[in-house]
Amino acid sequence: MRAERSVYICDECGEASVQWLGRCPACGSFGTMQKERREPRPAGARASGSAPVRMEAVEEERPRLLTGIGELDRVLGGGAVPGSLVLLGGEPGIGKSTLLLQAASCLAGRGSRVMLVSGEESAAQITSRARRTGALGPDLFLLCETDLSSLESAARELVPQVMVVDSIQTMRSQELDSPPGGVNQLRECVSRMQVLAKETDAVAFLVGHVTKEGVLAGPRLVEHMVDCVLYFEGERFDSLRVLRAAKNRFGSVSELGVFEMTDAGLREVEDPSRLFLDAREEPVAGTAVAVVMEGRRPLLVEVQALVAPSRLPAPKRVSTGMDGRRLAINVAVLERKAKVALAERDVYLGVCGGLQVSEPALDLAVCMAIASSRYDRILPPHAAFVGEVSLTGEVRPVSRIAERAKEAARLGFRSLVISDRARAHGLPGGIEMVGVSDLSQALETFGVSRPSARQSADR
Ligand code: TYD
Ligand code: MG
Repeated sequence: MRAERSVYICDECGEASVQWLGRCPACGSFGTMQKERREPRPAGARASGSAPVRMEAVEEERPRLLTGIGELDRVLGGGAVPGSLVLLGGEPGIGKSTLLLQAASCLAGRGSRVMLVSGEESAAQITSRARRTGALGPDLFLLCETDLSSLESAARELVPQVMVVDSIQTMRSQELDSPPGGVNQLRECVSRMQVLAKETDAVAFLVGHVTKEGVLAGPRLVEHMVDCVLYFEGERFDSLRVLRAAKNRFGSVSELGVFEMTDAGLREVEDPSRLFLDAREEPVAGTAVAVVMEGRRPLLVEVQALVAPSRLPAPKRVSTGMDGRRLAINVAVLERKAKVALAERDVYLGVCGGLQVSEPALDLAVCMAIASSRYDRILPPHAAFVGEVSLTGEVRPVSRIAERAKEAARLGFRSLVISDRARAHGLPGGIEMVGVSDLSQALETFGVSRPSARQSADR
């Protein structure tokens, strides 16, 4: 018989070591290495488990559970799959509990038995919120509990079709000494929830708080263990909320759900494009509209730029809603390839409405907005810009031009500025394509390039 082996696992990052260390070699945290026992399997013992089956004999997947909240169902890939684990991550206060309470109530209203498990709020708090958002119903059960074994026995008794655990970080297994929320506890809780969901054939939604660094506490660890990871995002002081899938075993990860937080809970946003455009009467300098693809859905977003004289040796480049490095590249290309002088100026850039855009198709609108602010010239309000800007200053074609054009036309835009090499088929009527080969040409076409000698007084 071999002796029992111990492994030490960092509670912060999950790094494993065979000996105890005062400081985690991976993340540098002090005093976070916790002992985890692993019972060795007795020699000669047979592993229990399943036997191979004929694939032909495997039954078809059962129908999915539709929550009835269209935006959530779409991000889930067409409803939730029974027996699966869905993790909902997001910053505290963003609306995770509200979303799942509403989903739970809709599911209960559609005939599923739902068990809400809360380790964070009292029964009175949750019930009063549910009353306020009109979410109460007879098939909705509530358990205020942080002990994992109690949760398991309650679930085996009630046999719900849907479980909501709010949050997974507050759950605790008594068999482990480590505190709740740490890597050891999280792993234990998630893997037992996995077993429970499979056994009772329920969908389990787990709420996971995101730390300041933007990762789920117990980095990546939980993400690997669940079937579906959703993130709920938005600006804390803005009512708009965006739900997106970071991982989905049963659907696409590029879908996006848009909600608005109101006094009566979360409301689905039917026409998000309108929302991301800043409604204003008069056009102003420093703004440009782009059409970005979020999943299969085209969205119009407004980019706002402010270029201001800088007193700093290294001027600021600050962005919200897009990657800061991407902004720095766009600024460098504007300077070197389109001769827009930005070296002694701070550049601030924001995407309206709190959306985080990672598509390079945003580049052209970003460059146009910066040049517009730099020279204080207004871009035509009926034009939308779509294109990736390369390091050489070339405007490159992007995919799905026809869908983007259709969305822009729907919202009253009359021209779409794209690469002159873009192949566009099936374009809608009512919108004109303006082809540009490079950034300089785009800036000149819309009068936001370097002023000629005559105009140079305003430099
Ligand atoms: P909550 O769902 O508790 O966030 P999380 O679980 O992600 O921490 O939502 C908290 C915020 O939402 C809180 O600031 C109040 C706001 N809210 C509304 O504006 N309207 C509502 O109907 C509800 C229930 C919450
Ligand atoms: Mg909450």
